[in-house]
Amino acid sequence: MKVDGRAMRTLWATPGRDALQVIDQRALPHRLQVERLGDVAAVQRAIRDMWVRGAPLIGATAAYGIALQANVDACDAALREAAASLKAARPTAVNLAWAIERMLARLLPLVPAQRRAAAWAEAEALAEEDVAVNAAIGRHGLPLLQAIAARKAGAPVNVLTHCNAGWLATVDWGTATAPIYQARAAGVPLHVWVDETRPRNQGASLTAWELGHEGVPHTVIADNAGGHLMQHGRVDLVIVGCDRVSARGDVCNKIGTYLKALAAHDSGVPFYVAMPGSTLDRSLHDGRREIPIEERSAREVTHIAGRNAEGEVVEVQLVADGSAAANPAFDVTPARLVTGLITEHGLVAAEEGALRRLGAQA
Ligand code: MRU
Repeated sequence: MKVDGRAMRTLWATPGRDALQVIDQRALPHRLQVERLGDVAAVQRAIRDMWVRGAPLIGATAAYGIALQANVDACDAALREAAASLKAARPTAVNLAWAIERMLARLLPLVPAQRRAAAWAEAEALAEEDVAVNAAIGRHGLPLLQAIAARKAGAPVNVLTHCNAGWLATVDWGTATAPIYQARAAGVPLHVWVDETRPRNQGASLTAWELGHEGVPHTVIADNAGGHLMQHGRVDLVIVGCDRVSARGDVCNKIGTYLKALAAHDSGVPFYVAMPGSTLDRSLHDGRREIPIEERSAREVTHIAGRNAEGEVVEVQLVADGSAAANPAFDVTPARLVTGLITEHGLVAAEEGALRRLGAQA
C-alpha cells in the first residue's frame, strides 16, 4: 500500500540476500524507520519486541529468519535451533509456527548445499502468497460492503475495526483492511471507526496512519466507545483480524476484540473476521481453553509514549507508583458471536463443518 504516495511493503530482502529490511513499527506514527535484520537473533528480537507484529507478518519475518540462518549454516541442527528460537518469540499467533514448519518441511529433505537458495526462494514465495491471499480476502469482503452501501443510498458505510489488521500486520493489503481498500477502489463511500487498542495502541498508531496515507476517511475512538456507537446505529459492520482460529471457529485476536463482539451481538451489528488459511489451527478445538494467551509487560499498561510539543517522542507514567498492572495481550471470541470468516476462498461460517470443508479446498 502507499506511504506518501509511494508503494511500500512491510519487509523486503536486500539485493544480496544478506539481510532482511523491515519497517520498525515502534516508531510509527511519528517516524517511518526501516531497520536491517542480519541474523536469526535480530529477527527473533524484532518479533519479540514488536518491531514487526501482526500474525501474517511475524510468520513471513520468521521465514526470512530461517533463510538468514541458511546463509551461515544450513545443517539440520542449525536450522532446527533457529526454528525453536523464532517460534519462542511470541506464543499466540499460529502463523509464526506455521511459517517456520513450512520452511523446515521444504529445506530438511534437501542436501545442505541446496538449502540456502531454496530457503530464500521459499521465504519469498511465502511473502508473495501472503499478498495474494490478502488481496483475495479483499475481493471476498467487498460484496459485504457493497450490499450495505446499496441500502444506504450514498451515505458512507461505517466499519469498525480493532487493533491493526492492516497492511502493516501483513506483507501487504492487510486482512481486515483489504475489503476496505478494495471497496474504496470500487467507489464505495466509507468511513472507518478505529479502536485505539490499548495498551499498545496499534489502532491509533498504525491503522489510523495507514488509512490516512491511503486517503480512507477514519476516526480514532477510545476502546470503550464502540458499544455506544453500535447502540446508536453508527456502525454498519465490524471487521477484525485474527491470530489463531480454532477448528470450531473460536477467534483469538487482540485483547478487547471479545467485548466488541459482545456489543455487536447485542446491537445486531454483523461481526466479521478476516482469516487467512494460515491462521486456522485445526489442532485446537475450544479456543478459550486451548489457545496460549501472551502476557506482556505491565509497563505497556502503566506507561505510554507520544510526541510532545517539541516533536520529541517521550514516555510518561499513567498510574500511581506501586500500582500493579496486568497485560493479557489477546482474547478469544466464541464462534457463536462471529457472523462469518472472510477467507481467501470466500465467506465461511465460524463452524466446525464449514471449516473442515475449507480445509479440503485449501
Ligand atoms: O500484538 P499484535 O499487534 O501482533 O496483535 C495483532 C493482532 O491482534 C491483529 O489483529 C492480528 O494479528 C491480525 S493481523 C492481520
